[in-house]
Amino acid sequence: MKIAIFGAGTLGKTLGKLWADAGHEIIYTFARSTKSLQETAALTGSQASWSDPRAAIEEADVILLALPWWVLPEAAKILSSSKQQVIIDANNPFKPGWVKFFLPDSQSSGEYVRDLLPRGARLVKAFNVLHAHSLEPHARRSKPHIERSVVCLSGDDVDARSIVATLIADAGYTPLDFGPLENNSYFNLDAPFDVTGPMSVEKAREIMERERQPATFLMI
Ligand SMILES: NC(=O)c1ccc[n+]([C@@H]2O[C@H](COP(=O)([O-])OP(=O)(O)OC[C@H]3O[C@@H](n4cnc5c(N)ncnc54)[C@H](OP(=O)(O)O)[C@@H]3O)[C@@H](O)[C@H]2O)c1
Repeated sequence: MKIAIFGAGTLGKTLGKLWADAGHEIIYTFARSTKSLQETAALTGSQASWSDPRAAIEEADVILLALPWWVLPEAAKILSSSKQQVIIDANNPFKPGWVKFFLPDSQSSGEYVRDLLPRGARLVKAFNVLHAHSLEPHARRSKPHIERSVVCLSGDDVDARSIVATLIADAGYTPLDFGPLENNSYFNLDAPFDVTGPMSVEKAREIMERERQPATFLMI
């Protein structure tokens, strides 16, 4: 798949490398200066390139948003030209200085991002809790899914969830599917599944039982 990564920062470049290693084509885009995009593409390897956002959207099958929260409205304007690609929202509500930004109680972070995007956007929330520095060392693409750590996902489009589940697996993790987008409240900041370190299948089962929150391990 061709994956456009908006934000070649800590999270964007880590996922870019994991997906490139799994055979995907990566296009880094959306930065204040193209230097960081060029450097990150070179470090990722021959399967990575960089481009301006509109060209990246044109080429991509999937778009990852890995940007500071306050930059998302600007990115969303550009995404109005997207053509039904799957969009992964890996973002958390922080103000500059990584100060928590409080959303209205009734709204999860995924729903907030959905409302910025064009109507009908195929948005899936995923990769927002595990710290980027843990992602690479705990990726286990060669291991059976039962022995991997989990990455939670949710979204209203079933096919889009299935595509993102494959990308979670390709990154070396086991997808834990929470169903509709609103259920990402279970894995937002300060939610039961907000863990910055890796979470085993066993640990995830324990939390699901405790919280009485049904979710489905895919690929197990
Ligand atoms: N880091 C993690 O462990 C982690 C884990 C899970 C989720 N997340 C979420 O992922 C998102 C990205 O986090 P991150 O840690 O990867 O951030 P980061 O390292 O600061 O990277 C942000 C990227 O956004 C780009 N950018 C474009 N326009 C920008 C602007 N106007 N102001 C600032 N940056 C701009 C930056 O490129 P230039 O500097 O070249 O402009 C940079 O590559 C956040 O929403 C965060 O909550 C992060």
